Amino acid sequence: MVGGLGDQIRRAASIELPDLPAARELLVLGMGGSGISGDYLAHLASLHGSRVSGHKSYGLPGWVGSARPTVLALSYSGNTEETLSGVEAAAEMKLPLIAITTGGQLGDLAATQGWPVVGVPGGLQPRAALGHLLGAALRVAGVTGLLPSPVADLHEAAGMVDSLVAEGGAGWALAGDLAGDLARRGVIVYGSTGLTAPVAQRWKTQINENAKRPAWWSVFPELDHNEIVGWSADKSVNDRVGVVVLTDRDDRDEVGRRIRITREVTGGDVRWIGEVNAQGESPLARMMSLTAIGDMVSVALAEGAGVDPVPVEPIEDLKKRLREER
Ligand code: PA5
Repeated sequence: MVGGLGDQIRRAASIELPDLPAARELLVLGMGGSGISGDYLAHLASLHGSRVSGHKSYGLPGWVGSARPTVLALSYSGNTEETLSGVEAAAEMKLPLIAITTGGQLGDLAATQGWPVVGVPGGLQPRAALGHLLGAALRVAGVTGLLPSPVADLHEAAGMVDSLVAEGGAGWALAGDLAGDLARRGVIVYGSTGLTAPVAQRWKTQINENAKRPAWWSVFPELDHNEIVGWSADKSVNDRVGVVVLTDRDDRDEVGRRIRITREVTGGDVRWIGEVNAQGESPLARMMSLTAIGDMVSVALAEGAGVDPVPVEPIEDLKKRLREER
């Protein structure tokens, strides 16, 4: 589930892209293990003054009529109904559209409509294809003018991931320690507005899907305005939950101060399990260092509980039921 991430990122640095139109702004349509790449991309693009928004539902947000963004449809399977619904709406509005997919209905639609497609290798769970999907999305953003070329950062990120996931390396030791302390607990992952927010979301979803366990995510500073009160009454719930905080060297000083004081204020109530700091130079490498650790924690949690990390039967069942009732 984790071993191929570095190679995927490295491969994405050299894939051939189709001809792509320049873009002023991007709207990423995608759900779950595909949509998270849009969240990572939105943060990285914002560092360069570019606007990338994500949409994780049916249809399109109301603002697209006036802004007319380029639409990037991200679906590993190509069959996700929310994403397809947005794509159909975008086609009706004649918005420029680019697809990243292994095929499916999205691939078929793109072929009939003549939309450019960036293909990614099939045969994986969508969440295990993050390196392919995110790498392709970054390359698309680079070519359409929303980012400088991401190629050097992709190589740095791939090397960082490889060193962390190497067998017997420091990454697994850290992940194993965290997983040991989180065993039999629900997990809350705290990030902060910026680089660690989308990664906190990825940790949450990886723990849900790989370890088959409840998990949630929140961000500083917002959580200081509500969530900390939620810890103060029912200690029986608190005992079943552990918090992990993700930090980055570019976190604002005010946020660092908030994390410290929040831990002091809630320390009697909250089981603070640990803090994981991003490693690397480029923002992408730092995001991927935290991502790799989170992926490893989710796998270590699964192994510790004797759970197979790969299948996601509830998602498959739900999609089947939705298809049957269509
Ligand atoms: O992890 C998963 O399997 C899901 O979150 C899927 O990614 C999600 O249902 C969307 O499917 P797809 O990635 O094929 O568009």
